Amino acid sequence: MTRTCPFVVGIACFAILGCVTVVQSQVTLEVTEGNSTCIKAELSASFFITYDTANGTRTVMVPLPGSAVVGVASSCGGDGRSPWLVALFGDGHALGLGFSSNDSLYSVANLTLQYNLSDVSNFPEANSTDVVTVETTSVGMVARVNTTYRCISASPVIVGGATVTFSNVTMEAFMTGDDLSPNESVCTADQSFTTAPPPPPSTTTAAPTPVPTPPGTPSQGSYSVSNSNGTVCLLARMALQLNISHFSASQNQTIQEVVNLLPNQTTSSGSCDPTSATLVLTQGNATNLSFLFTLNSTSNRYHLTGLSVVAAWSDMTGPFNTSNSSLDYQRGSLGRSYMCISEQTLVVDQNFSLNTFQLQVQPFGITRGQFAQAEECQLDQDNMLIPIVVGAALAGLVLIVLIAYLIGRKRSHAGYQTI
Ligand SMILES: *[C@@H]1O[C@H](CO)[C@@H](O)[C@H](O)[C@H]1NC(C)=O
Ligand SMILES: *[C@@H]1O[C@H](CO)[C@@H](O)[C@H](O)[C@H]1NC(C)=O
Ligand SMILES: *[C@@H]1O[C@H](CO)[C@@H](O)[C@H](O)[C@H]1NC(C)=O
Ligand SMILES: *[C@@H]1O[C@H](CO)[C@@H](O)[C@H](O)[C@H]1NC(C)=O
Ligand SMILES: *[C@@H]1O[C@H](CO)[C@@H](O)[C@H](O)[C@H]1NC(C)=O
Ligand SMILES: *[C@@H]1O[C@H](CO)[C@@H](O)[C@H](O)[C@H]1NC(C)=O
Ligand SMILES: *[C@@H]1O[C@H](CO)[C@@H](O)[C@H](O)[C@H]1NC(C)=O
Ligand SMILES: *[C@@H]1O[C@H](CO)[C@@H](O)[C@H](O)[C@H]1NC(C)=O
Ligand SMILES: *[C@@H]1O[C@H](CO)[C@@H](O)[C@H](O)[C@H]1NC(C)=O
Ligand SMILES: *[C@@H]1O[C@H](CO)[C@@H](O)[C@H](O)[C@H]1NC(C)=O
Ligand SMILES: *[C@@H]1O[C@H](CO)[C@@H](O)[C@H](O)[C@H]1NC(C)=O
Ligand SMILES: *[C@@H]1O[C@H](CO)[C@@H](O)[C@H](O)[C@H]1NC(C)=O
Repeated sequence: MTRTCPFVVGIACFAILGCVTVVQSQVTLEVTEGNSTCIKAELSASFFITYDTANGTRTVMVPLPGSAVVGVASSCGGDGRSPWLVALFGDGHALGLGFSSNDSLYSVANLTLQYNLSDVSNFPEANSTDVVTVETTSVGMVARVNTTYRCISASPVIVGGATVTFSNVTMEAFMTGDDLSPNESVCTADQSFTTAPPPPPSTTTAAPTPVPTPPGTPSQGSYSVSNSNGTVCLLARMALQLNISHFSASQNQTIQEVVNLLPNQTTSSGSCDPTSATLVLTQGNATNLSFLFTLNSTSNRYHLTGLSVVAAWSDMTGPFNTSNSSLDYQRGSLGRSYMCISEQTLVVDQNFSLNTFQLQVQPFGITRGQFAQAEECQLDQDNMLIPIVVGAALAGLVLIVLIAYLIGRKRSHAGYQTI
Protein backbone atom coordinates (compact mmCIF):
# COMPACT_ATOMS: atom_id res chain seq x y z
CA MET A 1 0.00 0.00 0.00
CA THR A 2 1.27 3.45 -0.81
CA ARG A 3 -0.13 6.66 0.51
CA THR A 4 1.29 10.01 -0.32
CA CYS A 5 0.75 13.52 0.73
CA PRO A 6 2.57 16.62 -0.36
CA PHE A 7 3.45 18.68 2.65
CA VAL A 8 5.28 21.76 3.61
CA VAL A 9 8.67 20.78 4.99
CA GLY A 10 9.14 23.99 6.81
CA ILE A 11 8.47 27.64 6.82
CA ALA A 12 11.58 29.32 8.03
CA CYS A 13 11.65 33.02 8.59
CA PHE A 14 15.10 34.49 8.45
CA ALA A 15 15.50 38.18 9.02
CA ILE A 16 17.46 38.64 5.82
CA LEU A 17 15.63 36.27 3.51
CA GLY A 18 12.02 36.78 4.29
CA CYS A 19 9.92 33.67 4.53
CA VAL A 20 11.14 30.65 2.65
CA THR A 21 8.66 27.87 2.01
CA VAL A 22 10.00 24.51 0.96
CA VAL A 23 7.64 21.95 -0.48
CA GLN A 24 8.61 18.32 -0.88
CA SER A 25 6.74 15.06 -1.27
CA GLN A 26 6.45 12.89 1.79
CA VAL A 27 6.03 9.27 0.74
CA THR A 28 4.57 6.43 2.81
CA LEU A 29 5.73 2.92 1.92
CA GLU A 30 4.53 -0.27 3.57
CA VAL A 31 5.57 -3.86 3.04
CA THR A 32 2.93 -6.32 4.18
CA GLU A 33 2.69 -10.07 4.17
CA GLY A 34 -0.63 -11.73 4.88
CA ASN A 35 -2.33 -9.09 6.92
CA SER A 36 0.60 -7.89 8.98
CA THR A 37 2.98 -5.07 8.18
CA CYS A 38 6.71 -5.78 8.57
CA ILE A 39 8.25 -2.57 7.18
CA LYS A 40 6.75 0.89 7.22
CA ALA A 41 8.57 4.00 6.09
CA GLU A 42 7.45 7.62 5.84
CA LEU A 43 10.13 9.72 4.23
CA SER A 44 11.23 12.32 1.70
CA ALA A 45 14.15 11.60 -0.57
CA SER A 46 15.88 13.19 -3.52
CA PHE A 47 18.70 12.10 -5.76
CA PHE A 48 21.56 14.03 -7.28
CA ILE A 49 22.68 11.87 -10.18
CA THR A 50 25.70 12.45 -12.41
CA TYR A 51 25.64 10.82 -15.83
CA ASP A 52 27.53 10.97 -19.12
CA THR A 53 26.47 12.91 -22.16
CA ALA A 54 28.31 13.03 -25.46
CA ASN A 55 29.91 16.17 -24.15
CA GLY A 56 30.96 15.38 -20.60
CA THR A 57 29.04 14.74 -17.44
CA ARG A 58 25.91 16.35 -16.18
CA THR A 59 24.26 16.37 -12.75
CA VAL A 60 20.53 16.39 -12.26
CA MET A 61 18.28 16.37 -9.24
CA VAL A 62 15.47 13.81 -9.23
CA PRO A 63 13.05 13.84 -6.29
CA LEU A 64 11.36 10.72 -5.02
CA PRO A 65 7.88 11.62 -6.25
CA GLY A 66 4.69 11.28 -4.26
CA SER A 67 3.60 8.69 -6.82
CA ALA A 68 6.26 6.16 -5.77
CA VAL A 69 4.83 2.69 -5.13
CA VAL A 70 6.06 -0.41 -3.32
CA GLY A 71 7.44 -2.93 -5.81
CA VAL A 72 6.51 -6.61 -5.80
CA ALA A 73 10.15 -7.52 -5.16
CA SER A 74 9.67 -6.19 -1.64
CA SER A 75 9.54 -8.85 1.03
CA CYS A 76 9.33 -9.37 4.73
CA GLY A 77 12.23 -11.79 4.56
CA GLY A 78 12.38 -15.16 6.22
CA ASP A 79 13.82 -18.38 4.79
CA GLY A 80 17.31 -16.92 5.04
CA ARG A 81 16.37 -13.81 3.04
CA SER A 82 16.41 -10.40 4.63
CA PRO A 83 13.56 -7.88 4.56
CA TRP A 84 13.64 -5.73 1.46
CA LEU A 85 11.75 -2.54 0.65
CA VAL A 86 11.65 -1.51 -2.99
CA ALA A 87 10.09 1.79 -4.09
CA LEU A 88 9.38 2.13 -7.82
CA PHE A 89 9.04 5.59 -9.33
CA GLY A 90 9.07 7.48 -12.58
CA ASP A 91 10.11 5.83 -15.79
CA GLY A 92 11.83 2.67 -14.54
CA HIS A 93 13.66 3.97 -11.47
CA ALA A 94 13.82 2.21 -8.12
CA LEU A 95 15.16 2.67 -4.62
CA GLY A 96 15.77 -0.45 -2.53
CA LEU A 97 16.53 -0.73 1.18
CA GLY A 98 17.70 -4.06 2.65
CA PHE A 99 17.41 -4.55 6.40
CA SER A 100 19.28 -6.74 8.84
CA SER A 101 19.05 -7.16 12.59
CA ASN A 102 20.45 -8.89 15.60
CA ASP A 103 18.96 -9.23 19.06
CA SER A 104 19.29 -5.58 19.96
CA LEU A 105 19.59 -3.46 16.80
CA TYR A 106 18.32 -3.36 13.25
CA SER A 107 19.76 -1.33 10.41
CA VAL A 108 19.60 -0.57 6.72
CA ALA A 109 22.24 -3.03 5.56
CA ASN A 110 22.32 -1.82 1.99
CA LEU A 111 20.81 0.75 -0.33
CA THR A 112 20.32 0.13 -4.04
CA LEU A 113 19.47 2.83 -6.54
CA GLN A 114 18.42 1.96 -10.04
CA TYR A 115 17.96 4.67 -12.65
CA ASN A 116 16.98 4.42 -16.24
CA LEU A 117 19.03 6.72 -18.46
CA SER A 118 16.55 6.36 -21.32
CA ASP A 119 14.18 8.57 -19.31
CA VAL A 120 14.91 11.74 -21.29
CA SER A 121 12.75 13.92 -19.05
CA ASN A 122 15.14 13.34 -16.16
CA PHE A 123 18.34 12.53 -18.08
CA PRO A 124 18.39 14.70 -21.20
CA GLU A 125 21.13 13.97 -23.72
CA ALA A 126 22.42 10.91 -21.89
CA ASN A 127 24.80 9.08 -24.22
CA SER A 128 23.42 5.76 -23.04
CA THR A 129 20.00 4.20 -22.51
CA ASP A 130 21.24 1.80 -19.84
CA VAL A 131 19.52 1.06 -16.60
CA VAL A 132 22.23 1.80 -14.03
CA THR A 133 22.25 0.04 -10.67
CA VAL A 134 24.44 1.30 -7.85
CA GLU A 135 24.67 -0.05 -4.32
CA THR A 136 26.21 0.86 -1.01
CA THR A 137 26.39 -0.82 2.35
CA SER A 138 27.19 2.32 4.34
CA VAL A 139 23.82 3.90 4.91
CA GLY A 140 24.09 4.71 8.59
CA MET A 141 20.49 4.08 9.65
CA VAL A 142 20.46 2.08 12.86
CA ALA A 143 17.74 1.70 15.48
CA ARG A 144 16.95 -0.44 18.50
CA VAL A 145 14.73 -3.43 17.82
CA ASN A 146 11.01 -2.68 18.43
CA THR A 147 11.53 1.06 18.02
CA THR A 148 10.87 3.50 15.19
CA TYR A 149 13.90 5.03 13.52
CA ARG A 150 13.42 8.80 13.31
CA CYS A 151 15.61 11.30 11.46
CA ILE A 152 14.16 14.65 10.50
CA SER A 153 17.54 16.11 9.55
CA ALA A 154 18.63 15.66 5.95
CA SER A 155 21.09 12.81 5.70
CA PRO A 156 23.00 12.21 2.48
CA VAL A 157 24.09 8.75 1.37
CA ILE A 158 26.64 8.47 -1.42
CA VAL A 159 25.97 5.59 -3.76
CA GLY A 160 28.01 5.29 -6.95
CA GLY A 161 27.79 8.53 -8.92
CA ALA A 162 24.69 9.57 -7.01
CA THR A 163 23.82 11.13 -3.70
CA VAL A 164 20.56 10.14 -2.04
CA THR A 165 19.37 12.66 0.52
CA PHE A 166 16.74 11.50 2.98
CA SER A 167 14.81 13.80 5.23
CA ASN A 168 11.94 13.59 7.71
CA VAL A 169 12.31 9.83 7.98
CA THR A 170 10.23 7.70 10.33
CA MET A 171 10.66 4.04 9.64
CA GLU A 172 10.45 0.66 11.30
CA ALA A 173 11.46 -2.78 10.07
CA PHE A 174 10.96 -6.12 11.82
CA MET A 175 7.70 -4.67 13.12
CA THR A 176 5.76 -6.55 15.76
CA GLY A 177 2.67 -4.33 15.76
CA ASP A 178 0.55 -3.05 12.91
CA ASP A 179 1.79 0.50 13.20
CA LEU A 180 5.03 2.30 13.95
CA SER A 181 6.22 1.79 17.50
CA PRO A 182 5.76 4.85 19.72
CA ASN A 183 9.27 4.26 21.07
CA GLU A 184 11.82 6.00 18.90
CA SER A 185 15.49 5.71 18.09
CA VAL A 186 16.46 9.25 17.15
CA CYS A 187 19.38 9.66 14.76
CA THR A 188 22.44 11.52 16.03
CA ALA A 189 21.90 14.43 13.63
CA ASP A 190 18.55 15.17 15.30
CA GLN A 191 19.88 14.82 18.82
CA SER A 192 21.73 18.13 18.78
CA PHE A 193 18.44 19.97 18.34
CA THR A 194 15.79 20.54 20.92
CA THR A 195 13.27 21.72 18.35
CA ALA A 196 13.32 19.53 15.29
CA PRO A 197 11.89 20.83 12.02
CA PRO A 198 13.21 23.69 9.90
CA PRO A 199 16.98 23.78 9.57
CA PRO A 200 18.01 26.56 11.93
CA PRO A 201 20.19 29.36 10.61
CA SER A 202 23.81 28.71 11.41
CA THR A 203 23.82 31.37 14.13
CA THR A 204 21.46 29.32 16.31
CA THR A 205 23.12 25.96 15.63
CA ALA A 206 23.66 24.34 18.95
CA ALA A 207 26.82 22.29 18.93
CA PRO A 208 29.96 23.79 17.41
CA THR A 209 31.58 26.61 19.31
CA PRO A 210 35.06 27.60 18.18
CA VAL A 211 35.31 29.41 14.87
CA PRO A 212 38.92 29.34 13.73
CA THR A 213 40.26 32.53 12.18
CA PRO A 214 37.27 34.01 10.32
CA PRO A 215 38.39 34.91 6.80
CA GLY A 216 37.78 38.36 5.39
CA THR A 217 35.11 39.10 2.83
CA PRO A 218 35.54 36.74 -0.13
CA SER A 219 36.40 38.08 -3.56
CA GLN A 220 33.97 38.01 -6.42
CA GLY A 221 34.37 35.44 -9.18
CA SER A 222 32.77 35.33 -12.61
CA TYR A 223 31.49 31.99 -13.80
CA SER A 224 29.63 30.78 -16.85
CA VAL A 225 28.25 27.62 -18.39
CA SER A 226 28.05 27.03 -22.14
CA ASN A 227 25.77 24.94 -24.29
CA SER A 228 27.02 22.13 -26.49
CA ASN A 229 27.18 24.65 -29.34
CA GLY A 230 29.30 26.97 -27.25
CA THR A 231 26.69 29.62 -26.47
CA VAL A 232 26.72 30.89 -22.91
CA CYS A 233 23.54 29.72 -21.16
CA LEU A 234 24.24 30.49 -17.49
CA LEU A 235 26.07 33.45 -15.99
CA ALA A 236 27.02 34.09 -12.40
CA ARG A 237 29.22 36.53 -10.59
CA MET A 238 29.40 36.23 -6.86
CA ALA A 239 31.63 36.05 -3.82
CA LEU A 240 31.10 32.89 -1.81
CA GLN A 241 31.88 31.76 1.70
CA LEU A 242 31.27 28.24 2.92
CA ASN A 243 30.28 27.65 6.53
CA ILE A 244 30.67 24.00 7.47
CA SER A 245 30.37 22.29 10.85
CA HIS A 246 32.62 19.27 10.93
CA PHE A 247 34.76 17.24 13.25
CA SER A 248 38.20 18.77 13.49
CA ALA A 249 41.09 16.35 13.54
CA SER A 250 43.43 18.81 15.24
CA GLN A 251 40.99 20.02 17.91
CA ASN A 252 39.30 16.66 18.51
CA GLN A 253 35.85 18.27 18.49
CA THR A 254 33.18 19.58 16.16
CA ILE A 255 33.98 23.04 14.89
CA GLN A 256 32.38 25.53 12.56
CA GLU A 257 34.78 26.43 9.79
CA VAL A 258 34.20 29.42 7.51
CA VAL A 259 36.18 29.34 4.29
CA ASN A 260 36.16 31.66 1.28
CA LEU A 261 35.97 30.25 -2.20
CA LEU A 262 39.02 31.53 -4.11
CA PRO A 263 37.85 32.59 -7.60
CA ASN A 264 41.32 32.40 -9.12
CA GLN A 265 41.56 28.72 -8.18
CA THR A 266 37.99 27.84 -9.07
CA THR A 267 36.72 26.41 -12.33
CA SER A 268 33.11 26.27 -13.44
CA SER A 269 31.19 23.69 -15.40
CA GLY A 270 27.58 22.66 -15.67
CA SER A 271 24.70 22.17 -17.99
CA CYS A 272 21.61 23.94 -19.27
CA ASP A 273 18.28 22.45 -20.15
CA PRO A 274 15.02 24.17 -20.95
CA THR A 275 13.78 23.92 -17.36
CA SER A 276 16.86 23.13 -15.29
CA ALA A 277 20.41 24.38 -15.14
CA THR A 278 23.37 23.37 -13.04
CA LEU A 279 26.49 25.26 -12.12
CA VAL A 280 29.36 23.29 -10.63
CA LEU A 281 32.24 25.19 -9.04
CA THR A 282 35.40 23.26 -8.30
CA GLN A 283 38.28 24.63 -6.28
CA GLY A 284 41.24 22.32 -6.67
CA ASN A 285 40.34 18.97 -5.20
CA ALA A 286 39.24 20.50 -1.91
CA THR A 287 35.82 21.99 -2.62
CA ASN A 288 33.08 21.14 -5.06
CA LEU A 289 29.89 23.15 -4.99
CA SER A 290 26.85 22.47 -7.21
CA PHE A 291 23.89 24.76 -7.78
CA LEU A 292 20.68 23.51 -9.33
CA PHE A 293 18.23 26.06 -10.75
CA THR A 294 14.81 25.15 -12.04
CA LEU A 295 12.42 27.08 -14.20
CA ASN A 296 8.68 26.85 -13.76
CA SER A 297 7.57 27.16 -17.37
CA THR A 298 4.01 27.94 -16.30
CA SER A 299 4.88 30.96 -14.23
CA ASN A 300 8.13 31.72 -16.12
CA ARG A 301 9.92 32.09 -12.82
CA TYR A 302 13.09 30.35 -11.73
CA HIS A 303 14.71 29.69 -8.37
CA LEU A 304 17.64 27.93 -6.78
CA THR A 305 16.29 24.49 -5.84
CA GLY A 306 19.37 22.49 -4.98
CA LEU A 307 22.78 23.01 -3.44
CA SER A 308 25.29 20.29 -2.81
CA VAL A 309 28.82 20.42 -1.50
CA VAL A 310 31.71 18.05 -1.23
CA ALA A 311 34.57 19.40 0.85
CA ALA A 312 37.82 17.70 1.69
CA TRP A 313 39.64 20.23 3.86
CA SER A 314 42.87 19.59 5.63
CA ASP A 315 41.45 19.54 9.15
CA MET A 316 38.60 17.16 8.37
CA THR A 317 38.66 13.53 9.37
CA GLY A 318 36.93 12.60 6.09
CA PRO A 319 35.26 14.29 3.13
CA PHE A 320 32.23 16.37 4.04
CA ASN A 321 29.27 15.82 1.75
CA THR A 322 25.79 17.21 1.94
CA SER A 323 23.01 18.35 -0.34
CA ASN A 324 19.54 19.74 -0.21
CA SER A 325 17.33 19.71 -3.25
CA SER A 326 14.24 21.34 -1.79
CA LEU A 327 15.54 24.86 -1.39
CA ASP A 328 13.80 27.99 -2.55
CA TYR A 329 16.32 30.79 -2.88
CA GLN A 330 17.18 33.38 -5.54
CA ARG A 331 13.75 33.67 -7.08
CA GLY A 332 13.78 35.50 -10.40
CA SER A 333 11.81 35.92 -13.62
CA LEU A 334 12.73 34.37 -16.95
CA GLY A 335 14.60 36.89 -19.05
CA ARG A 336 15.89 38.75 -16.00
CA SER A 337 18.90 38.22 -13.80
CA TYR A 338 18.75 37.96 -10.02
CA MET A 339 20.92 40.33 -8.03
CA CYS A 340 21.79 40.53 -4.37
CA ILE A 341 24.66 42.79 -3.42
CA SER A 342 23.99 42.40 0.30
CA GLU A 343 25.23 39.35 2.19
CA GLN A 344 22.75 36.47 2.10
CA THR A 345 22.94 33.22 4.04
CA LEU A 346 21.64 30.18 2.19
CA VAL A 347 20.99 27.51 4.81
CA VAL A 348 21.40 24.07 3.25
CA ASP A 349 21.22 21.97 6.39
CA GLN A 350 22.32 22.19 9.99
CA ASN A 351 25.96 21.59 9.08
CA PHE A 352 26.32 23.67 5.95
CA SER A 353 25.33 27.13 4.86
CA LEU A 354 26.59 29.27 2.04
CA ASN A 355 27.12 33.01 2.42
CA THR A 356 26.82 34.99 -0.79
CA PHE A 357 28.00 38.56 -1.44
CA GLN A 358 27.84 40.82 -4.52
CA LEU A 359 25.81 38.23 -6.35
CA GLN A 360 24.25 38.31 -9.79
CA VAL A 361 23.05 35.13 -11.49
CA GLN A 362 21.02 34.30 -14.55
CA PRO A 363 20.42 30.60 -15.08
CA PHE A 364 17.98 30.94 -18.01
CA GLY A 365 17.28 33.13 -20.99
CA ILE A 366 20.77 34.54 -21.61
CA THR A 367 21.07 36.49 -24.84
CA ARG A 368 24.37 37.60 -26.38
CA GLY A 369 26.31 36.22 -23.43
CA GLN A 370 25.25 39.08 -21.16
CA PHE A 371 23.22 39.53 -18.03
CA ALA A 372 19.71 40.84 -18.62
CA GLN A 373 18.17 43.55 -16.45
CA ALA A 374 18.46 42.64 -12.78
CA GLU A 375 15.79 41.97 -10.20
CA GLU A 376 17.12 43.11 -6.87
CA CYS A 377 16.69 40.96 -3.76
CA GLN A 378 14.51 42.22 -0.92
CA LEU A 379 17.50 42.94 1.30
CA ASP A 380 19.06 45.24 -1.27
CA GLN A 381 15.74 47.01 -1.62
CA ASP A 382 15.51 47.39 2.16
CA ASN A 383 19.06 48.69 2.29
CA MET A 384 18.17 51.26 -0.33
CA LEU A 385 14.99 52.04 1.55
CA ILE A 386 16.83 53.03 4.75
CA PRO A 387 18.62 56.04 3.22
CA ILE A 388 15.37 56.99 1.48
CA VAL A 389 13.40 56.83 4.73
CA VAL A 390 16.09 58.72 6.63
CA GLY A 391 16.27 61.29 3.83
CA ALA A 392 12.50 61.68 3.78
CA ALA A 393 12.44 62.07 7.56
CA LEU A 394 15.14 64.76 7.41
CA ALA A 395 13.35 66.55 4.59
CA GLY A 396 10.16 66.44 6.67
CA LEU A 397 12.00 67.89 9.64
CA VAL A 398 13.48 70.69 7.56
CA LEU A 399 10.03 71.46 6.19
CA ILE A 400 8.52 71.62 9.68
CA VAL A 401 11.27 73.95 10.88
CA LEU A 402 10.81 76.11 7.79
CA ILE A 403 7.03 76.33 8.26
CA ALA A 404 7.48 77.08 11.94
CA TYR A 405 9.95 79.82 11.04
CA LEU A 406 7.64 81.31 8.40
CA ILE A 407 4.67 81.26 10.77
CA GLY A 408 6.84 82.79 13.45
CA ARG A 409 7.99 85.51 11.05
CA LYS A 410 4.43 86.26 9.97
CA ARG A 411 3.27 86.47 13.61
CA SER A 412 6.08 88.87 14.50
CA HIS A 413 5.29 90.94 11.35
CA ALA A 414 1.68 91.15 12.46
CA GLY A 415 2.93 92.21 15.88
CA TYR A 416 4.94 95.11 14.43
CA GLN A 417 1.98 96.26 12.38
CA THR A 418 -0.27 96.61 15.44
CA ILE A 419 2.16 98.92 17.13
C1 LIG B 1 7.27 14.95 8.50
O1 LIG B 1 6.31 14.14 7.85
C2 LIG B 1 5.05 14.11 8.48
C3 LIG B 1 4.17 13.16 7.71
O2 LIG B 1 4.79 11.94 7.61
C4 LIG B 1 4.46 15.50 8.49
O3 LIG B 1 3.22 15.48 9.16
C5 LIG B 1 5.41 16.42 9.21
O4 LIG B 1 4.92 17.72 9.13
C6 LIG B 1 6.76 16.35 8.57
N1 LIG B 1 7.68 17.14 9.37
C7 LIG B 1 8.51 17.99 8.83
C8 LIG B 1 9.42 18.70 9.73
O5 LIG B 1 8.55 18.20 7.64
C1 LIG C 1 -5.69 -12.09 8.98
O1 LIG C 1 -6.41 -12.51 7.83
C2 LIG C 1 -7.10 -13.72 8.00
C3 LIG C 1 -7.77 -14.07 6.71
O2 LIG C 1 -6.97 -13.76 5.63
C4 LIG C 1 -8.12 -13.59 9.11
O3 LIG C 1 -8.73 -14.83 9.36
C5 LIG C 1 -7.43 -13.13 10.37
O4 LIG C 1 -8.39 -12.87 11.38
C6 LIG C 1 -6.65 -11.87 10.12
N1 LIG C 1 -5.93 -11.52 11.33
C7 LIG C 1 -5.97 -10.32 11.84
C8 LIG C 1 -5.17 -10.08 13.06
O5 LIG C 1 -6.59 -9.41 11.32
C1 LIG D 1 29.54 8.37 -22.84
O1 LIG D 1 30.46 9.42 -22.66
C2 LIG D 1 31.53 9.12 -21.78
C3 LIG D 1 32.39 10.36 -21.62
O2 LIG D 1 31.67 11.51 -21.81
C4 LIG D 1 32.34 7.96 -22.33
O3 LIG D 1 33.36 7.64 -21.40
C5 LIG D 1 31.42 6.78 -22.52
O4 LIG D 1 32.15 5.74 -23.13
C6 LIG D 1 30.26 7.16 -23.42
N1 LIG D 1 29.37 6.01 -23.50
C7 LIG D 1 28.76 5.66 -24.62
C8 LIG D 1 27.86 4.48 -24.55
O5 LIG D 1 28.93 6.28 -25.65
C1 LIG E 1 21.31 -6.34 1.12
O1 LIG E 1 21.59 -6.79 2.42
C2 LIG E 1 20.87 -7.95 2.77
C3 LIG E 1 21.18 -8.23 4.21
O2 LIG E 1 22.53 -8.15 4.49
C4 LIG E 1 21.25 -9.10 1.85
O3 LIG E 1 20.51 -10.23 2.16
C5 LIG E 1 20.93 -8.69 0.43
O4 LIG E 1 21.36 -9.70 -0.45
C6 LIG E 1 21.63 -7.42 0.12
N1 LIG E 1 21.22 -7.01 -1.18
C7 LIG E 1 22.08 -6.80 -2.14
C8 LIG E 1 21.51 -6.35 -3.44
O5 LIG E 1 23.28 -6.96 -1.98
C1 LIG F 1 24.22 -6.02 17.02
O1 LIG F 1 24.97 -5.39 15.98
C2 LIG F 1 25.66 -4.22 16.39
C3 LIG F 1 26.35 -3.65 15.21
O2 LIG F 1 25.68 -3.94 14.05
C4 LIG F 1 26.65 -4.57 17.48
O3 LIG F 1 27.28 -3.39 17.93
C5 LIG F 1 25.92 -5.22 18.63
O4 LIG F 1 26.86 -5.65 19.59
C6 LIG F 1 25.14 -6.42 18.15
N1 LIG F 1 24.39 -6.97 19.25
C7 LIG F 1 24.31 -8.27 19.50
C8 LIG F 1 23.51 -8.66 20.68
O5 LIG F 1 24.86 -9.08 18.78
C1 LIG G 1 10.29 -6.97 20.52
O1 LIG G 1 8.90 -7.25 20.59
C2 LIG G 1 8.59 -8.63 20.51
C3 LIG G 1 7.10 -8.79 20.51
O2 LIG G 1 6.48 -7.77 21.23
C4 LIG G 1 9.24 -9.39 21.67
O3 LIG G 1 9.00 -10.77 21.52
C5 LIG G 1 10.75 -9.12 21.64
O4 LIG G 1 11.37 -9.73 22.76
C6 LIG G 1 11.04 -7.65 21.63
N1 LIG G 1 12.46 -7.46 21.49
C7 LIG G 1 13.15 -6.55 22.15
C8 LIG G 1 14.61 -6.48 21.92
O5 LIG G 1 12.60 -5.78 22.92
C1 LIG H 1 31.10 19.43 -27.25
O1 LIG H 1 31.27 20.79 -26.90
C2 LIG H 1 32.34 21.39 -27.60
C3 LIG H 1 32.46 22.83 -27.12
O2 LIG H 1 31.94 22.95 -25.84
C4 LIG H 1 32.08 21.33 -29.08
O3 LIG H 1 33.21 21.84 -29.76
C5 LIG H 1 31.85 19.90 -29.51
O4 LIG H 1 31.49 19.86 -30.87
C6 LIG H 1 30.74 19.28 -28.71
N1 LIG H 1 30.59 17.90 -29.09
C7 LIG H 1 29.40 17.37 -29.31
C8 LIG H 1 29.39 15.93 -29.69
O5 LIG H 1 28.36 18.00 -29.20
C1 LIG I 1 22.70 26.78 -29.40
O1 LIG I 1 21.83 25.83 -28.84
C2 LIG I 1 20.71 26.40 -28.19
C3 LIG I 1 19.93 25.25 -27.60
O2 LIG I 1 20.76 24.29 -27.07
C4 LIG I 1 19.89 27.17 -29.19
O3 LIG I 1 18.82 27.78 -28.51
C5 LIG I 1 20.75 28.24 -29.81
O4 LIG I 1 20.00 28.90 -30.81
C6 LIG I 1 21.97 27.63 -30.44
N1 LIG I 1 22.82 28.70 -30.91
C7 LIG I 1 23.46 28.61 -32.04
C8 LIG I 1 24.29 29.79 -32.41
O5 LIG I 1 23.38 27.64 -32.76
C1 LIG J 1 39.28 13.20 21.88
O1 LIG J 1 38.26 13.49 22.81
C2 LIG J 1 37.70 12.34 23.44
C3 LIG J 1 36.57 12.78 24.32
O2 LIG J 1 36.23 14.09 24.13
C4 LIG J 1 38.78 11.62 24.22
O3 LIG J 1 38.24 10.44 24.79
C5 LIG J 1 39.92 11.25 23.29
O4 LIG J 1 40.97 10.67 24.03
C6 LIG J 1 40.43 12.49 22.57
N1 LIG J 1 41.45 12.08 21.61
C7 LIG J 1 42.55 12.75 21.43
C8 LIG J 1 43.48 12.23 20.40
O5 LIG J 1 42.82 13.74 22.09
C1 LIG K 1 44.44 34.33 -5.76
O1 LIG K 1 43.89 35.49 -5.21
C2 LIG K 1 44.33 35.77 -3.90
C3 LIG K 1 43.62 36.99 -3.42
O2 LIG K 1 42.30 36.99 -3.83
C4 LIG K 1 45.84 36.00 -3.91
O3 LIG K 1 46.27 36.19 -2.59
C5 LIG K 1 46.51 34.77 -4.48
O4 LIG K 1 47.88 35.02 -4.61
C6 LIG K 1 45.95 34.43 -5.85
N1 LIG K 1 46.52 33.17 -6.29
C7 LIG K 1 46.86 32.97 -7.53
C8 LIG K 1 47.42 31.62 -7.85
O5 LIG K 1 46.72 33.82 -8.38
C1 LIG L 1 44.90 17.11 -4.50
O1 LIG L 1 45.02 16.07 -3.54
C2 LIG L 1 46.31 15.54 -3.42
C3 LIG L 1 46.26 14.45 -2.39
O2 LIG L 1 45.07 13.76 -2.45
C4 LIG L 1 47.29 16.61 -3.01
O3 LIG L 1 48.60 16.06 -2.96
C5 LIG L 1 47.26 17.71 -4.04
O4 LIG L 1 48.10 18.75 -3.62
C6 LIG L 1 45.85 18.24 -4.18
N1 LIG L 1 45.80 19.23 -5.21
C7 LIG L 1 45.30 20.42 -5.00
C8 LIG L 1 45.29 21.34 -6.17
O5 LIG L 1 44.84 20.76 -3.93
C1 LIG M 1 4.47 26.77 -11.47
O1 LIG M 1 3.77 27.98 -11.32
C2 LIG M 1 2.36 27.83 -11.31
C3 LIG M 1 1.75 29.20 -11.29
O2 LIG M 1 2.39 30.01 -10.34
C4 LIG M 1 1.97 26.98 -10.13
O3 LIG M 1 0.58 26.79 -10.13
C5 LIG M 1 2.65 25.65 -10.23
O4 LIG M 1 2.38 24.87 -9.09
C6 LIG M 1 4.14 25.82 -10.35
N1 LIG M 1 4.76 24.52 -10.60
C7 LIG M 1 5.74 24.03 -9.85
C8 LIG M 1 6.27 22.70 -10.24
O5 LIG M 1 6.16 24.65 -8.89
